[in-house]
Amino acid sequence: MTTLGDPVGTSTLPAILGGPRARQDDYPVWPEHDERDVEAVARVVRSGRWGGFPFPGPETARFAERFAALQGGGTAVPMVNGTITMEVAMRAAGIGWGDEVIVPAYTFQATAAAPMAAGALPVIVDIDPETYCIDPAAVEAAITPRTRAIIPVHLGAQMADMDAIMRIAEAHDLIVVEDCAHVPGAAWQGRGAGTIGHFGSFSLQSSKTLTSGEGGVLLCRTPELARRASSIIDCGRPKDPAGIEYTQGSNYRMTELQAALANVGLDRLPGQIAERAESRAYADRVLGSVPGVRILPADPRMTIPAFYRYVFAVDPDRFGLDHLQVTRALAAEGVPSWIGYEAMHRYTLFQPQTTRLPVPTAFPEYFRFETMSFPEAERAAEREAVWLDERIFRAGTDGVDAVVDALRKIQAHAPAIAGHLGGAA
Ligand SMILES: Cc1ncc(COP(=O)(O)O)c(C=O)c1O
Repeated sequence: MTTLGDPVGTSTLPAILGGPRARQDDYPVWPEHDERDVEAVARVVRSGRWGGFPFPGPETARFAERFAALQGGGTAVPMVNGTITMEVAMRAAGIGWGDEVIVPAYTFQATAAAPMAAGALPVIVDIDPETYCIDPAAVEAAITPRTRAIIPVHLGAQMADMDAIMRIAEAHDLIVVEDCAHVPGAAWQGRGAGTIGHFGSFSLQSSKTLTSGEGGVLLCRTPELARRASSIIDCGRPKDPAGIEYTQGSNYRMTELQAALANVGLDRLPGQIAERAESRAYADRVLGSVPGVRILPADPRMTIPAFYRYVFAVDPDRFGLDHLQVTRALAAEGVPSWIGYEAMHRYTLFQPQTTRLPVPTAFPEYFRFETMSFPEAERAAEREAVWLDERIFRAGTDGVDAVVDALRKIQAHAPAIAGHLGGAA
């Protein structure tokens, strides 16, 4: 059990100052894998049907069906990653040149880059400090006659407020693409993530809970949207019953090798979700006991709390260190963590004015990042957010205990650590 309530542990020196590590053993590896993965890949190799053409192959079709069943709705179209999924959603919905798409200021760059690749304009809005997900009030304030879509991101271990987002979308006739890269298996008010909006975009990249190394899957609300998405990712080949509707497309097909891994991942996922939900609830209870640590409270409307990385906030004024200093000290304790994304308008991976892409060239007014300000996203990205690595949640509540012990030691020695790292927060 954790040293919760026991101040003795805090007299031990933190590892970064030469004390013992809070976590002696390395956390288990990620992705989780066993002989089932090896056998599934070997089976596909022996079959000779490795690629994605003709689309979908048998493994891919099976994965699509099972994935839609897991989320409880829609038609699933597997593809190469969880960025193309969002670009394809835009194209399938007829969103393109000069249309505005509202995205949160705190997310991976793909959430804004994907609509741009479809010719649309990302309109960045701030986040809710309680969840770090898109702030519905900011969404509403950003709507203009050009707005066509919203991309709420279900971030870390949270889901965006889908009740509010869908109310706004319905009132303004907007398309909603849920960026579900972090939450396969999650549900909101009993409805699967990605089935509430018009599309749900999932990433199967290797740090994600359900992974095929690289990969993605787009859940589409209607068979018609799924047909269009399938055509776009299969070089534009027609998917309508008459076989006559060609689209402009490219090759974004999932391969059979990827689908084989994804199918084994689906076998494993329900157990992982249950185990991780328990650790998450435990983390919610114990982490907040550390002075200066703020939990992002679990929203009871997230009825299946499937998650990827667990995010909490440190208040540098109370904790005595900022999030970068905390993650460095946690690393020394054997606890892998990360400060998370940069705010979108400051993102080094998202600086379109330095490129000659059509969208920023034609609409420079949407990319004057130096004039933009998103205080909540900046606070999360530059001072507060700590993302606990997915491996920690493979070690059950013991894994979380080491985090609490480490944080308590680090906080108790914050001034010395700040000095050691070269400056106070
Ligand atoms: C929130 C979010 N959206 C989209 C993506 C893109 O997924 P992929 O890496 O599969 O393209 C990621 C990937 O990490 C992500 O975290």
